[in-house]
Amino acid sequence: MTTTVQSELIAAIRNIPDYPKPGVMFRDITTLLGNPRAFRRAIDELVHPYAGTKIDKIAGIEARGFILGGAIAHQLSSGFVPIRKKGKLPHDTVRIAYSLEYGVDEMEMHKDAISPGEKVILVDDLIATGGTAEAAVKLLKQMGADIVAACFVIDLPELGGRKRLEALGVNVRTLIEFE
Ligand code: PRP
Ligand code: ADE
Repeated sequence: MTTTVQSELIAAIRNIPDYPKPGVMFRDITTLLGNPRAFRRAIDELVHPYAGTKIDKIAGIEARGFILGGAIAHQLSSGFVPIRKKGKLPHDTVRIAYSLEYGVDEMEMHKDAISPGEKVILVDDLIATGGTAEAAVKLLKQMGADIVAACFVIDLPELGGRKRLEALGVNVRTLIEFE
């Protein structure tokens, strides 16, 4: 990816200091999503390594991973699997607790959402500590998924999430970084 595209994506993201807690610089992708050119660019960049590859499912992490993941699933002609905050899914689920840059939560997915051996790409908007994505990877592995990659628009490398996922043997793809 060219630095021009990266600059365009960086410029499309809004930075909100002290949200949701003092000391956190929140990287708000709603402005990128609302910018037709930047949104298309981000999706194109995320999917291009997998064009022509059979990917069975895109697993998107609530909430912003749903928006990106839906668009990626459409581009790759894959199914979409929601990984949701606890209590939102109506059928039998597998559940896992995880910690965030600013709190603790639990996530779950439907037990029948993925069949063993299916090729899956995990998608979210941002990786920070990697706690959220690591929990999602554990759920997917529990279901027997073959995790092809975990894809994010934004990496916050100082928080170590990419290394944490790579230590689990996951191929990580990110488009831009912020300190
Ligand atoms: C954000 C982001 C990732 C997660 C990354 O979601 O969309 O899912 O934090 O942080 P981590 O790498 O430290 O785990 P958030 O928890 O704010 O939830 P939301 O998308 O429902 O607002
Ligand atoms: N999730 C965790 N840290 C974040 C940040 N700084 N901006 C947006 N989402 C986040």
